[in-house]
Amino acid sequence: MIVLGIESTCDETAASIVVDGKKILSEVISSQVDLHNIYGGVVPELACRRHIEVIIPVIDEALEKAGCNLDDVDLIAVAYGPGLMGPLFVGLQTAKGIALALDKPIIGVNHVEAHLYAALMSHDGPVQFPALGVVLSGGHTNLIKIEELGSYKLLGKTVDDAIGEAFDKVAKMLNLPYPGGPAIEALAKKGDSHKFAFKAGTCKANPLDFSFSGLKTAVLYAKKDGDINDPQFRADIAASFQEAAFKDIISKVKRAAEETGANTVVFGGGVTNNQEIRRQFQVKCPNLTTIWPSPNLTLDNATMIAGLGYQLYQKFGPSELVLLEAKSQIHFSV
Ligand code: KG4
Ligand code: ZN
Repeated sequence: MIVLGIESTCDETAASIVVDGKKILSEVISSQVDLHNIYGGVVPELACRRHIEVIIPVIDEALEKAGCNLDDVDLIAVAYGPGLMGPLFVGLQTAKGIALALDKPIIGVNHVEAHLYAALMSHDGPVQFPALGVVLSGGHTNLIKIEELGSYKLLGKTVDDAIGEAFDKVAKMLNLPYPGGPAIEALAKKGDSHKFAFKAGTCKANPLDFSFSGLKTAVLYAKKDGDINDPQFRADIAASFQEAAFKDIISKVKRAAEETGANTVVFGGGVTNNQEIRRQFQVKCPNLTTIWPSPNLTLDNATMIAGLGYQLYQKFGPSELVLLEAKSQIHFSV
Protein backbone atom coordinates (compact mmCIF):
# COMPACT_ATOMS: atom_id res chain seq x y z
CA MET A 1 0.00 0.00 0.00
CA ILE A 2 1.50 3.32 -1.10
CA VAL A 3 0.91 6.09 1.46
CA LEU A 4 1.48 9.81 0.98
CA GLY A 5 2.28 11.40 4.34
CA ILE A 6 1.86 15.13 4.93
CA GLU A 7 3.25 17.06 7.92
CA SER A 8 2.79 20.77 8.70
CA THR A 9 2.16 21.01 12.43
CA CYS A 10 4.88 23.57 13.21
CA ASP A 11 7.83 24.86 11.20
CA GLU A 12 8.55 22.01 8.81
CA THR A 13 6.60 21.33 5.64
CA ALA A 14 7.13 17.69 4.78
CA ALA A 15 5.87 14.97 2.46
CA SER A 16 6.90 11.33 2.23
CA ILE A 17 5.95 8.28 0.25
CA VAL A 18 6.05 5.12 2.35
CA VAL A 19 5.07 1.58 1.38
CA ASP A 20 3.29 -0.68 3.89
CA GLY A 21 4.21 1.47 6.88
CA LYS A 22 7.96 0.84 6.73
CA LYS A 23 9.59 1.11 3.31
CA ILE A 24 10.53 4.72 2.63
CA LEU A 25 10.43 5.59 -1.09
CA SER A 26 11.00 9.29 -0.56
CA GLU A 27 11.05 11.96 2.11
CA VAL A 28 11.17 15.70 1.56
CA ILE A 29 11.42 18.25 4.37
CA SER A 30 11.34 21.99 3.86
CA SER A 31 12.62 23.53 7.07
CA GLN A 32 11.76 27.07 8.11
CA VAL A 33 14.68 27.50 10.51
CA ASP A 34 16.04 30.39 8.42
CA LEU A 35 12.71 32.20 8.73
CA HIS A 36 12.37 31.98 12.52
CA ASN A 37 16.04 32.08 13.51
CA ILE A 38 16.16 35.80 14.21
CA TYR A 39 13.14 35.58 16.53
CA GLY A 40 14.58 32.70 18.60
CA GLY A 41 11.34 30.74 18.16
CA VAL A 42 8.54 29.95 15.71
CA VAL A 43 6.32 32.85 14.59
CA PRO A 44 2.98 31.15 13.71
CA GLU A 45 1.82 33.63 11.05
CA LEU A 46 5.14 33.45 9.18
CA ALA A 47 5.13 29.67 9.48
CA CYS A 48 1.66 29.51 8.00
CA ARG A 49 2.56 31.64 4.99
CA ARG A 50 5.67 29.58 4.23
CA HIS A 51 3.67 26.33 4.45
CA ILE A 52 1.24 27.69 1.84
CA GLU A 53 4.11 28.59 -0.50
CA VAL A 54 5.94 25.28 -0.34
CA ILE A 55 3.43 22.52 0.36
CA ILE A 56 2.55 21.69 -3.26
CA PRO A 57 6.20 21.75 -4.46
CA VAL A 58 7.16 19.57 -1.47
CA ILE A 59 4.48 16.98 -2.31
CA ASP A 60 5.45 17.07 -6.01
CA GLU A 61 9.10 16.49 -5.11
CA ALA A 62 8.22 13.56 -2.83
CA LEU A 63 6.18 11.94 -5.61
CA GLU A 64 8.90 12.52 -8.18
CA LYS A 65 11.64 11.12 -5.95
CA ALA A 66 9.50 8.04 -5.28
CA GLY A 67 8.93 7.62 -9.01
CA CYS A 68 5.18 7.72 -8.73
CA ASN A 69 2.24 10.06 -9.22
CA LEU A 70 -0.89 10.84 -7.24
CA ASP A 71 -2.85 8.10 -9.01
CA ASP A 72 -0.48 5.49 -7.54
CA VAL A 73 -1.16 6.66 -3.98
CA ASP A 74 -3.52 4.36 -2.04
CA LEU A 75 -3.90 6.42 1.15
CA ILE A 76 -3.25 9.98 2.29
CA ALA A 77 -2.06 10.33 5.88
CA VAL A 78 -1.97 13.80 7.38
CA ALA A 79 -0.98 15.18 10.78
CA TYR A 80 -4.14 16.83 12.16
CA GLY A 81 -2.57 17.94 15.46
CA PRO A 82 -1.34 18.82 17.97
CA GLY A 83 0.31 21.92 16.59
CA LEU A 84 -0.20 25.48 15.42
CA MET A 85 -3.68 26.02 13.97
CA GLY A 86 -2.67 27.95 10.82
CA PRO A 87 0.09 25.54 9.80
CA LEU A 88 -2.19 22.56 10.55
CA PHE A 89 -4.92 23.94 8.28
CA VAL A 90 -2.51 24.16 5.36
CA GLY A 91 -1.53 20.48 5.53
CA LEU A 92 -5.00 19.26 6.33
CA GLN A 93 -6.79 21.19 3.60
CA THR A 94 -4.19 20.14 1.04
CA ALA A 95 -4.62 16.50 2.06
CA LYS A 96 -8.39 16.78 1.95
CA GLY A 97 -8.25 18.44 -1.46
CA ILE A 98 -6.18 15.59 -2.88
CA ALA A 99 -8.37 12.95 -1.25
CA LEU A 100 -11.58 14.54 -2.56
CA ALA A 101 -10.30 15.23 -6.05
CA LEU A 102 -8.92 11.73 -6.54
CA ASP A 103 -11.44 9.86 -4.39
CA LYS A 104 -8.74 8.38 -2.14
CA PRO A 105 -9.06 7.44 1.53
CA ILE A 106 -7.59 9.82 4.09
CA ILE A 107 -6.44 9.23 7.66
CA GLY A 108 -5.68 11.82 10.34
CA VAL A 109 -2.60 11.09 12.42
CA ASN A 110 -1.66 12.40 15.86
CA HIS A 111 1.77 14.01 15.45
CA VAL A 112 2.95 13.01 18.95
CA GLU A 113 1.93 9.39 18.45
CA ALA A 114 3.77 9.46 15.13
CA HIS A 115 6.98 10.61 16.88
CA LEU A 116 6.88 7.32 18.79
CA TYR A 117 6.12 5.28 15.69
CA ALA A 118 9.21 6.85 14.08
CA ALA A 119 11.45 4.78 16.36
CA LEU A 120 9.58 1.59 15.47
CA MET A 121 10.01 2.18 11.73
CA SER A 122 13.69 1.33 11.85
CA HIS A 123 13.34 -1.28 14.60
CA ASP A 124 13.56 -4.91 13.57
CA GLY A 125 11.96 -7.55 15.71
CA PRO A 126 9.02 -7.52 18.08
CA VAL A 127 8.32 -4.86 20.70
CA GLN A 128 7.34 -6.02 24.14
CA PHE A 129 4.09 -4.34 25.25
CA PRO A 130 3.21 -2.64 27.46
CA ALA A 131 6.07 -0.30 26.66
CA LEU A 132 6.81 3.25 27.70
CA GLY A 133 6.74 6.05 25.15
CA VAL A 134 8.84 9.14 25.78
CA VAL A 135 8.32 12.13 23.49
CA LEU A 136 10.94 14.85 23.89
CA SER A 137 10.41 17.59 21.36
CA GLY A 138 10.13 21.32 20.85
CA GLY A 139 6.43 21.34 21.63
CA HIS A 140 5.90 18.23 23.75
CA THR A 141 7.24 16.32 26.72
CA ASN A 142 5.16 13.24 27.32
CA LEU A 143 5.55 10.02 29.22
CA ILE A 144 3.09 7.49 27.84
CA LYS A 145 2.19 3.89 28.55
CA ILE A 146 1.80 2.12 25.20
CA GLU A 147 -0.59 -0.79 25.69
CA GLU A 148 -0.22 -1.60 21.99
CA LEU A 149 -0.06 0.44 18.77
CA GLY A 150 -3.07 2.78 18.83
CA SER A 151 -3.79 2.34 22.56
CA TYR A 152 -2.11 4.72 25.01
CA LYS A 153 -2.34 6.08 28.52
CA LEU A 154 -0.74 9.38 29.44
CA LEU A 155 1.44 9.00 32.54
CA GLY A 156 3.12 12.42 32.64
CA LYS A 157 3.45 15.65 30.69
CA THR A 158 5.12 18.99 31.10
CA VAL A 159 3.18 21.49 33.19
CA ASP A 160 5.04 24.42 31.60
CA ASP A 161 7.82 24.40 28.98
CA ALA A 162 8.50 21.45 26.72
CA ILE A 163 12.03 20.09 27.02
CA GLY A 164 13.07 21.26 23.54
CA GLU A 165 11.57 24.67 24.26
CA ALA A 166 13.71 24.87 27.42
CA PHE A 167 16.80 24.01 25.34
CA ASP A 168 15.84 26.72 22.84
CA LYS A 169 15.24 29.35 25.54
CA VAL A 170 18.45 28.58 27.43
CA ALA A 171 20.31 28.72 24.11
CA LYS A 172 18.87 32.17 23.52
CA MET A 173 20.12 33.26 26.98
CA LEU A 174 23.59 32.05 25.99
CA ASN A 175 23.42 33.87 22.64
CA LEU A 176 23.35 30.59 20.73
CA PRO A 177 21.43 30.13 17.46
CA TYR A 178 17.92 28.65 17.09
CA PRO A 179 17.12 25.76 17.35
CA GLY A 180 19.14 25.66 20.54
CA GLY A 181 19.32 21.91 21.21
CA PRO A 182 22.25 21.05 18.91
CA ALA A 183 24.14 24.20 19.99
CA ILE A 184 23.71 23.41 23.72
CA GLU A 185 24.76 19.79 23.15
CA ALA A 186 27.95 20.91 21.37
CA LEU A 187 28.80 23.56 23.96
CA ALA A 188 28.05 21.21 26.88
CA LYS A 189 30.83 18.88 25.71
CA LYS A 190 33.34 21.54 26.75
CA GLY A 191 31.72 22.31 30.10
CA ASP A 192 31.59 20.96 33.65
CA SER A 193 28.13 19.46 34.18
CA HIS A 194 28.46 19.73 37.97
CA LYS A 195 29.54 23.35 38.08
CA PHE A 196 26.01 24.59 38.77
CA ALA A 197 23.55 22.70 40.99
CA PHE A 198 20.57 23.12 38.64
CA LYS A 199 17.47 21.03 39.19
CA ALA A 200 14.28 20.45 37.19
CA GLY A 201 10.95 20.85 38.98
CA THR A 202 8.97 18.22 40.84
CA CYS A 203 5.20 18.14 40.57
CA LYS A 204 3.27 17.19 43.67
CA ALA A 205 0.00 16.43 41.89
CA ASN A 206 1.67 13.89 39.61
CA PRO A 207 5.30 12.91 40.27
CA LEU A 208 5.61 11.80 36.62
CA ASP A 209 4.81 15.29 35.31
CA PHE A 210 7.68 17.53 34.18
CA SER A 211 8.49 21.16 34.90
CA PHE A 212 11.37 23.00 33.26
CA SER A 213 10.49 26.66 33.78
CA GLY A 214 12.21 26.85 37.21
CA LEU A 215 15.33 25.28 35.71
CA LYS A 216 15.26 27.90 32.99
CA THR A 217 14.95 30.70 35.56
CA ALA A 218 17.85 29.24 37.55
CA VAL A 219 19.97 29.45 34.39
CA LEU A 220 18.94 33.08 33.97
CA TYR A 221 20.09 33.93 37.52
CA ALA A 222 23.36 32.01 37.11
CA LYS A 223 24.00 33.91 33.91
CA LYS A 224 23.65 37.23 35.73
CA ASP A 225 26.33 36.22 38.24
CA GLY A 226 29.06 35.54 35.69
CA ASP A 227 30.68 36.78 32.52
CA ILE A 228 28.54 35.59 29.62
CA ASN A 229 31.41 36.39 27.24
CA ASP A 230 33.63 33.85 28.98
CA PRO A 231 33.41 30.70 26.82
CA GLN A 232 34.11 28.39 29.79
CA PHE A 233 31.36 29.99 31.86
CA ARG A 234 28.87 29.51 29.02
CA ALA A 235 29.97 25.92 28.48
CA ASP A 236 29.58 25.14 32.20
CA ILE A 237 26.05 26.57 32.19
CA ALA A 238 25.13 24.56 29.08
CA ALA A 239 26.56 21.34 30.54
CA SER A 240 24.93 21.82 33.95
CA PHE A 241 21.55 22.66 32.40
CA GLN A 242 21.65 19.63 30.12
CA GLU A 243 22.72 17.38 32.99
CA ALA A 244 19.84 18.56 35.21
CA ALA A 245 17.25 18.17 32.45
CA PHE A 246 18.37 14.64 31.52
CA LYS A 247 18.72 13.52 35.15
CA ASP A 248 15.08 14.48 35.68
CA ILE A 249 13.86 12.67 32.55
CA ILE A 250 15.82 9.53 33.34
CA SER A 251 14.57 9.35 36.93
CA LYS A 252 10.94 9.77 35.83
CA VAL A 253 11.26 7.14 33.10
CA LYS A 254 12.77 4.73 35.66
CA ARG A 255 9.93 5.40 38.07
CA ALA A 256 7.31 4.91 35.33
CA ALA A 257 8.99 1.64 34.32
CA GLU A 258 8.78 0.39 37.90
CA GLU A 259 5.15 1.45 38.28
CA THR A 260 3.95 -0.07 35.00
CA GLY A 261 6.23 -3.10 34.81
CA ALA A 262 7.26 -2.05 31.28
CA ASN A 263 10.87 -2.73 30.38
CA THR A 264 10.95 -1.34 26.84
CA VAL A 265 11.13 2.40 26.19
CA VAL A 266 10.33 3.91 22.78
CA PHE A 267 11.69 7.44 22.23
CA GLY A 268 10.67 10.19 19.85
CA GLY A 269 11.14 13.89 19.11
CA GLY A 270 13.94 16.28 18.23
CA VAL A 271 15.68 16.15 21.61
CA THR A 272 16.40 12.43 21.08
CA ASN A 273 18.95 13.63 18.53
CA ASN A 274 21.10 14.38 21.55
CA GLN A 275 23.80 11.72 21.89
CA GLU A 276 24.36 12.48 25.57
CA ILE A 277 20.83 11.51 26.58
CA ARG A 278 21.17 8.27 24.62
CA ARG A 279 24.48 7.54 26.36
CA GLN A 280 23.10 8.31 29.80
CA PHE A 281 20.10 6.01 29.33
CA GLN A 282 22.44 3.23 28.29
CA VAL A 283 24.63 3.70 31.36
CA LYS A 284 21.94 4.43 33.94
CA CYS A 285 19.19 2.08 32.76
CA PRO A 286 20.99 -1.11 31.67
CA ASN A 287 17.86 -3.18 32.31
CA LEU A 288 15.63 -1.19 30.00
CA THR A 289 15.45 -1.93 26.27
CA THR A 290 15.59 1.45 24.57
CA ILE A 291 14.37 2.04 21.01
CA TRP A 292 15.51 5.32 19.45
CA PRO A 293 14.49 6.85 16.11
CA SER A 294 17.07 6.93 13.35
CA PRO A 295 18.53 10.45 12.91
CA ASN A 296 16.37 11.33 9.87
CA LEU A 297 13.23 10.59 11.88
CA THR A 298 13.91 12.43 15.14
CA LEU A 299 12.78 15.86 13.95
CA ASP A 300 9.40 16.63 12.41
CA ASN A 301 8.92 14.62 9.23
CA ALA A 302 6.15 13.11 7.11
CA THR A 303 7.62 9.61 7.01
CA MET A 304 6.40 8.89 10.53
CA ILE A 305 2.96 10.27 9.57
CA ALA A 306 2.72 7.99 6.52
CA GLY A 307 4.06 5.03 8.53
CA LEU A 308 1.66 5.35 11.43
CA GLY A 309 -1.18 6.29 9.06
CA TYR A 310 -0.77 2.93 7.34
CA GLN A 311 -0.82 1.01 10.64
CA LEU A 312 -3.90 2.83 11.96
CA TYR A 313 -5.68 2.41 8.63
CA GLN A 314 -5.13 -1.35 8.86
CA LYS A 315 -6.57 -1.39 12.37
CA PHE A 316 -9.33 1.18 12.32
CA GLY A 317 -9.99 2.10 8.67
CA PRO A 318 -9.97 5.62 7.18
CA SER A 319 -11.04 8.88 8.80
CA GLU A 320 -14.33 10.47 7.84
CA LEU A 321 -13.13 13.31 5.62
CA VAL A 322 -15.73 15.89 6.62
CA LEU A 323 -15.23 15.14 10.32
CA LEU A 324 -11.43 15.37 10.22
CA GLU A 325 -10.48 18.68 11.83
CA ALA A 326 -7.26 20.38 12.85
CA LYS A 327 -6.65 20.19 16.60
CA SER A 328 -4.15 22.41 18.39
CA GLN A 329 -4.21 19.95 21.31
CA ILE A 330 -4.96 16.25 21.40
CA HIS A 331 -5.27 14.62 24.78
CA PHE A 332 -4.18 11.07 25.34
CA SER A 333 -6.48 9.16 27.67
CA VAL A 334 -5.37 9.59 31.28
O1 KG4 B 1 10.47 17.11 17.26
P1 KG4 B 1 10.78 18.51 16.92
O2 KG4 B 1 10.99 18.85 15.48
O3 KG4 B 1 9.72 19.51 17.55
C1 KG4 B 1 8.36 19.37 17.74
O4 KG4 B 1 7.69 18.51 17.16
O5 KG4 B 1 7.89 20.17 18.57
O6 KG4 B 1 12.07 18.94 17.76
C2 KG4 B 1 12.61 20.22 17.74
C3 KG4 B 1 13.30 20.44 19.06
C4 KG4 B 1 13.91 21.82 19.21
O7 KG4 B 1 13.46 22.37 20.43
C5 KG4 B 1 15.41 21.56 19.24
O8 KG4 B 1 16.14 22.48 20.00
C6 KG4 B 1 15.47 20.17 19.82
O9 KG4 B 1 14.37 19.50 19.25
N1 KG4 B 1 16.72 19.48 19.49
C7 KG4 B 1 17.63 19.10 20.41
C8 KG4 B 1 18.71 18.53 19.69
N2 KG4 B 1 18.41 18.57 18.36
C9 KG4 B 1 17.17 19.16 18.26
N3 KG4 B 1 17.64 19.20 21.75
C10 KG4 B 1 18.73 18.74 22.40
N4 KG4 B 1 19.81 18.21 21.78
C11 KG4 B 1 19.84 18.08 20.44
N5 KG4 B 1 20.91 17.56 19.83
ZN1 ZN C 1 7.29 17.09 16.45
